[in-house]
Amino acid sequence: MKEKLEALRAEARAQLESCSTAAELEALRVKYLGKKGELTALLRGMGALAPEERPKMGALVNEARSEIEAAMEAKVKALEEAELNRRLEEEQLDVTVPGVAAPMGKKHPLSQVLDEIKDIFLGMGFQIASGPEVEFDHYNFEALNMPKNHPARDTQDTFYITENILLRTQTSPMQVRVMEKQQPPIKVIAPGRVYRSDEVDATHSPLFHQIEGLVVDKGIRMSDLKGTLELFAKRLYGEEAVVRFRPHHFSFTEPSAEMDIRCFSCGGKGCRLCKGEGWIEILGAGMVHPKVLQGCGIDPEEYSGFAFGLGLERIVMRRYNIDDLRLFFENDLRFLEQF
Ligand code: DAH
Repeated sequence: MKEKLEALRAEARAQLESCSTAAELEALRVKYLGKKGELTALLRGMGALAPEERPKMGALVNEARSEIEAAMEAKVKALEEAELNRRLEEEQLDVTVPGVAAPMGKKHPLSQVLDEIKDIFLGMGFQIASGPEVEFDHYNFEALNMPKNHPARDTQDTFYITENILLRTQTSPMQVRVMEKQQPPIKVIAPGRVYRSDEVDATHSPLFHQIEGLVVDKGIRMSDLKGTLELFAKRLYGEEAVVRFRPHHFSFTEPSAEMDIRCFSCGGKGCRLCKGEGWIEILGAGMVHPKVLQGCGIDPEEYSGFAFGLGLERIVMRRYNIDDLRLFFENDLRFLEQF
């Protein structure tokens, strides 16, 4: 019996040594220590021994059990440690590997050119004003010398919200809002969204952008208007830019003019871009009408001023040769990524 026990101990030791998974280990535990295990079987066989042999043998079996239990416990620890090391190895994170860069966003082409235009005017000492897109009829028309049933209203297809509230059709109401709040000297630009109920096509959108300008002070003359706007054109289009002023009519300026730039594509000979004209219209402008000044509480005997307004989309379209206005508002990345 003693030999059997020794053989069992040796066998258990060897099997534990070579066991490499928790499942194998559990199988060994059942095999040697379980209720139907081999040690239990040995204990049962003790009945055949002489009574005085039994305690000795019992002690030996217990010793063997303790030894196998201890070896198993050690094996459990070893297996757990191996498993931990395997996971640490596998989940290792190399923080020096270069990351996947997030694609860099860009400013919309309209914003890029608007920023440029703002910088030009800021550099000339202008301030930037902004105001509501939902506007009173009073500011959008009335105070700009366009009373109800004035023919000029028909040229601006207006989105009315109520009889007296509308979506502004132009940034010119900002002239009135600025002059109401501030006495001269005034030198501001007011960029922003404007709305007209136009049918959408390549050159019309119900939403577009204008930049309004207003200068009011003592002794402001038409030559100030021309000098300022010519300088603006040269800053935007380059020193070689040539401009001309044509007489025009706006209800809120007198006299009024439009400024053209000599076509930068053909140099004035006439081409597709300038529609054979040799000149491209850039903006509307004029000396602020005395009625408008007066309506804002500014004495036209003491002060005078000039105003101008330009359309942002048209400037950006010509600069980049974009032939469809809708591209600005569709947010197609294939278009936007080109700028
Ligand atoms: N508000 C005019 C328009 O939308 C543009 C304009 C013309 C603005 C002359 C001005 C100006 O300030 O003096 O057609």
